Amino acid sequence: MARLAIKGGKPIRTKPFPGWPEFGEEEKKVLMLVLQGRNWGGYPSPNTYAKILNERFAAFQGARYGVACANGTVSLEVALKAGGLRPGDEVIVPAYTWVGTAAAVLFAQGVPVFVDSDPANYCMDPKAFEAAITSRTSAVIPVHLGMEMADMDAILPVARRRQLFVIEDCAHAHGAQWKGLGAGSLGAFGSFSMQSSKLLTAGEGGMILTSNEEFYERCQTLINCGRPSPTDRYKYRSIGHNHRMTEFQTALLLAQLGRLPEQTERRLKNARLLAQKLEGITGIRPLSWDARITRPAIYHYLLRYDPSGFGGTHRDVFLRSLRAEGIPAEGAFYEPVYRAPLWDFRRENFAVFAGSQVDYSKVRCPVAEKAAYEESVWLHHSLLLGDANDVRDIAEAIAKIQASAGELADVSRPTQTGSF
Ligand SMILES: Cc1ncc(COP(=O)(O)O)c(C=O)c1O
Repeated sequence: MARLAIKGGKPIRTKPFPGWPEFGEEEKKVLMLVLQGRNWGGYPSPNTYAKILNERFAAFQGARYGVACANGTVSLEVALKAGGLRPGDEVIVPAYTWVGTAAAVLFAQGVPVFVDSDPANYCMDPKAFEAAITSRTSAVIPVHLGMEMADMDAILPVARRRQLFVIEDCAHAHGAQWKGLGAGSLGAFGSFSMQSSKLLTAGEGGMILTSNEEFYERCQTLINCGRPSPTDRYKYRSIGHNHRMTEFQTALLLAQLGRLPEQTERRLKNARLLAQKLEGITGIRPLSWDARITRPAIYHYLLRYDPSGFGGTHRDVFLRSLRAEGIPAEGAFYEPVYRAPLWDFRRENFAVFAGSQVDYSKVRCPVAEKAAYEESVWLHHSLLLGDANDVRDIAEAIAKIQASAGELADVSRPTQTGSF
């Protein structure tokens, strides 16, 4: 039996996985064009490339309007304000997400209310969402997590009946489709991040989608220092930030968008191959896809780990060994926000909590906690951008660890958790 790399053996893999992001002549060309054109910023808004990107990305996801902005936290905050959130309104968010989903609610002067995940897909549990609605609730933010999509068929009718507006957090879901409809086109708003690790990136960036013209105008005003939107049919006025995206980013994103459909297919092909190869290994399975996800987007390939298949080895020890074998993978990629180190929440810093009963010290979301601390294995999408040999290495490393799991009894768990 081959010695485990964590015990000094030869790792399965020493070669790096494909670099991310991918780029080529098209990206170089558009960046030079922006440089030479001397029209670098986001003003006037939308600027030349921003206008094209807004239209093209909205059409790609199946929405009428797009508003490029600084990042995927701002896009949530702006969508909340544009949807009409009032100070002190409650917004239901999944506990199992990036801290920014909840922080955006605070920035918009709302009160985030955490709910647990569905164990099948780690996304917001629709029943928990319904149970958390109070007379103060005005919005809900389902997050399409990792490679999954929240159950929009269950969430949307409840939201409609209870008059809540829905913002889909699609930071992980560029290109994803639910029953043929693009992520971000199902709710009142879709919010995207174009930060470096994401499926579509310009290093940083965000995008709000909506099919409601009034909401569009509000978003456009809110990201452009309060200036009227180019259409201005609804005469919306507000103090606004400068949250515009630069022309370097919008031009780069246009080039990157051209690559996205092929990359989505490539990842899917490799993911299916990996799922096949994992079939023979007990204790590790990819999360399944609901048949209503007609086009999955894989931001992270999510595996469910069961220690009983690995002689009782804790997930974090398994991950240490997997990394030692040359396969980068994370466990507590997200922690339930109320337990995350970056959730440095102090009630006294937010006036809206004066009249609120919400107490985060009492929140417990057992499904999210189990996923974060025991069960989930997150493989970044760049691991699936290569060829069948890369996939073979991942599966072989996992099989090798399983075969020698008995050797791991004395390996300690890493102390640091979370991705920050
Ligand atoms: C689910 C989710 N929401 C929101 C964000 C915020 O995006 P950004 O980093 O662009 O502000 C992220 C980024 O990681 C995310 O993963």
